Amino acid sequence: MLPGPAWSELGDVEIAPADRPGPDVDVLVVVNEPVDLDLFPALRLIANFSVGFDRIDVAACSARGILVTNTPGVLDAATADLAMALILAARRRLVAGDRLIRSGGWGVSWAEVQLEAREVSGARLGIVGLGRIGSAVARRARAFDMDVAGVTSREGDIDELMRSSDVVSVHVPLSPETRGLISRERLALLRDGATFVNTARGAIVDEDALVDELVSGRITAGVDVFAHEPNVPRELLGLDNVVLTPHIASGTAETRAAMTRVVVDNVLAFARGAAPPNPVV
Ligand code: 8YV
Repeated sequence: MLPGPAWSELGDVEIAPADRPGPDVDVLVVVNEPVDLDLFPALRLIANFSVGFDRIDVAACSARGILVTNTPGVLDAATADLAMALILAARRRLVAGDRLIRSGGWGVSWAEVQLEAREVSGARLGIVGLGRIGSAVARRARAFDMDVAGVTSREGDIDELMRSSDVVSVHVPLSPETRGLISRERLALLRDGATFVNTARGAIVDEDALVDELVSGRITAGVDVFAHEPNVPRELLGLDNVVLTPHIASGTAETRAAMTRVVVDNVLAFARGAAPPNPVV
């Protein structure tokens, strides 16, 4: 069952586990997870509760005449909000400050110096990927008086963006072209004290290299997505220069309900014999 009122519009659906054979199942609702198509010979639609579909083999699906849909648009604001929150939290050392108070460390030494932060206002933000979410981040960042620059993953000069930005935020989908896009070499181009934010997919970044940069203390980061979720590199757990969140960018009640609305609309369109509105191309 998905969150929000729209789910009930599906009526009497039978919820079948996606990893057990379902010879009669013609629609599957999944959360960006691989489907063993051999288990579902009657399958015609995979309605994905997620805008990202990197774990679904869309080519294999279309070869079998199975349509895949996703949830574009409705999670742009929530994802952009979290990216801004991570920029602010990492630059302004929000979590470190919270920890300092809770550990009783405030006043023991000169906390203001311990927690010296970096400015957000006036900082140059480089956005990798200027689609719906990247553009929503750009709008928010301008309201914080950031100097915003962006590149698309294909044409833009990512190296130059990495070199010239105080903050870099990634907003491209994971695909064969973007896997490892933010390589060790590119991370090394970041300025000392720069902030790297990822709310897209962990595998877009060389995670080992990101860990090395953070362990060295040279940069700060806000990270919502990881290469092997739910595993988070152990080295990060004790570090104060990285803010970690568990893949929650779309995790507001409002956005989750809106995602369910989109999933249900796609399933209902299919059930009426109409074209589902959000096919993955
Ligand atoms: C998660 C997301 O899939 O839509 C995406 O691509 O990454 C998220 O919405 C969703 O939160 C379920 O975990």
